[in-house]
Amino acid sequence: MFSTPFLDIAPLTGADGCVRLPGSKSISNRVLLLAGLSAGTTTLHDLLDSDDTQVMLDALRALGCTIEREGERVRVTGLAGRLAVRHARLFLGNAGTAMRPLTAALALLTAAQGGDFELAGVERMHERPIGDLVDALRAFGCQIDELGAAGYPPLRVHGGTLDLSRPIRVRGDVSSQFLTALLLALPLVTTDRAVSVEVEGELISRPYVEITIRLLARFGVTIQHEAWQRFTIPPRSAAGAFRSPGDVHVEGDASSASYFIALGAIAASDGKRIRIEGVGSDSIQGDIAFTDAAEAMGADITRGANWLEVRRGRWPLRAIRLDCNHMPDAAMTLAAMALYADGTTRLDNIASWRVKETDRIAAMATELRKLGATVVEGADVIEVAPPAQWRAAAVHTYDDHRMAMCLSLAALNPLAGADPGVPVRILDPRCVGKTFPDYFETLFGVVQAEPAAIPVITVDGPSASGKGTLAAALATALGFHYLDSGALYRATALAALQAGIADDDRVALARLGANLDLRFAAGATLLEGVDVTDALRREEVGAMASRISAGPELRDALRALQLSFRRLPGLVADGRDMGSVIFPDAQLKVFLTASAEERAARRHKQLISKGFSANIEGLLADLQARDARDRNRAVSPLAPATDALLLDNSGLTIEASVAQVLAWWQERSPFR
Ligand code: DC
Repeated sequence: MFSTPFLDIAPLTGADGCVRLPGSKSISNRVLLLAGLSAGTTTLHDLLDSDDTQVMLDALRALGCTIEREGERVRVTGLAGRLAVRHARLFLGNAGTAMRPLTAALALLTAAQGGDFELAGVERMHERPIGDLVDALRAFGCQIDELGAAGYPPLRVHGGTLDLSRPIRVRGDVSSQFLTALLLALPLVTTDRAVSVEVEGELISRPYVEITIRLLARFGVTIQHEAWQRFTIPPRSAAGAFRSPGDVHVEGDASSASYFIALGAIAASDGKRIRIEGVGSDSIQGDIAFTDAAEAMGADITRGANWLEVRRGRWPLRAIRLDCNHMPDAAMTLAAMALYADGTTRLDNIASWRVKETDRIAAMATELRKLGATVVEGADVIEVAPPAQWRAAAVHTYDDHRMAMCLSLAALNPLAGADPGVPVRILDPRCVGKTFPDYFETLFGVVQAEPAAIPVITVDGPSASGKGTLAAALATALGFHYLDSGALYRATALAALQAGIADDDRVALARLGANLDLRFAAGATLLEGVDVTDALRREEVGAMASRISAGPELRDALRALQLSFRRLPGLVADGRDMGSVIFPDAQLKVFLTASAEERAARRHKQLISKGFSANIEGLLADLQARDARDRNRAVSPLAPATDALLLDNSGLTIEASVAQVLAWWQERSPFR
């Protein structure tokens, strides 16, 4: 996982493969709450592990629920409807699916049982309306204080006198989460009479309310409704409010599926396909209707009970006009697909976008324009026409996971005729952690790019110059792959020593190199399945590597293997000839130039710290001999590429060297 505040996506030319979706956010947080309030223990399978579920888990723990992780499973032992803790301050991040239902549950429970709770979140959470829910709860007799602006969190709930005799009205046209929150919480306080909730205004995002009702039924509560306008919560049964169903399987997130459905529709042509596992025709999530919208735009979709397969159908995509009230989240993905359509796409009835993680209408309009699209923004509508001329853009994500995931689809611009294709920079890419922490890794696993378009940084230099440490740290920071080309020569040397091949048998060595079964896995190097990480560092192996690497046959034999490391999202390669011979078109080439004396001193310190005895003079002589051999060989001699930037890291810490190279990388990028 990268640590830079940006992620660059090279221009992408195709997609093929299979993705497994993370669990649905809406289902995960609802079942967590229900399990936390139920009698008994519930085992949750495939629960989403993300920022939003984490705050819900933390809140339940603070309220006294027992939560155990067992590998992929999470076991929640609930409160059986009784407050075990009477005072707590809950931090709910930016999770609307935690703030709204917990507010309702704690307001009603403290009114019935006593207690005092504070519910707060991040700054943006304090700008997301909750006033209509607060009004409805007050009408039931709950005591709620707004600690900041009226109508917004943070809130304090502390008792009151419950009166459930009259039907209560709640607005349905700002967020369906208000109604969901009441439906999830009211069964906790019903007595021998049914309670009614009436929806004022048109109920938006109805499918989310359907999820709520289905999950309540699994926990033993059957809600009746009249035309989605009047909902009846039944009188409490003798067994209490919620009863744990034992095991609950969380389906994949249908909103998360939308990015891969779009990907297949745009980029899976010529026999390729994107298979999505975790949602399908059996899904209870409203956003599965996104498949119909994607089909209307031209996607070719095959559905199974819990999988989808998507191919490009019509191309370019068809511009559509659609009322998106029923799937506001997934509709954002349609705005990204509109970049690949044959005209202007218009998404109507999306006012709720303005009160989500950010004002999504404004954010989408601003960022799509940066890419070159023509966008018209209205109070509850957006119109998008594709770019005539694509531009490389650094796009803001507004701490909104869906902005980051939608805009990543803009990297498919070569398929819309951008020539040359342009990369896309996603700013603050980690915001995807809200619902899909591995989104980018998953994406990079199923997309293709021209090798020349995949960024490469080369770090060459003499032995013990610290290039391995620098290159590996750069790769980690950028989330790039890492090639230690010296390891390939060392592995060949080790294999030759084991097979008794002489260091002048160039043909046999080349054959060995061409057939190396070498794998790099989690910090270890495996040669024919055996961990050789330490063996490769042995002195005699290094010396043999230095001698055999002078042979042009072996160098040729290892070339294809080295080139195969150039994979999305990018590569940092270290060695002697990475910039000069193997990746002559690398976007940035660095050549380390620390003196032999400095390098000998470093290696000395390193050996001593590991408890080996060492002598500086011997190390220096050895390094100088190796430098001379690397420099003076006929093929690929050690020398900076003509366009390499020299870095004398003698007096620099590793952090300072990394910072310097990242600064050079930024200067080279088209996003300055
Ligand atoms: O970087 P290292 O010490 O692990 O490299 C071991 C030997 O391999 C080194 O003596 C020179 C050779 N080598 C090379 O010739 N070309 C490379 N790209 C990397 C290493």
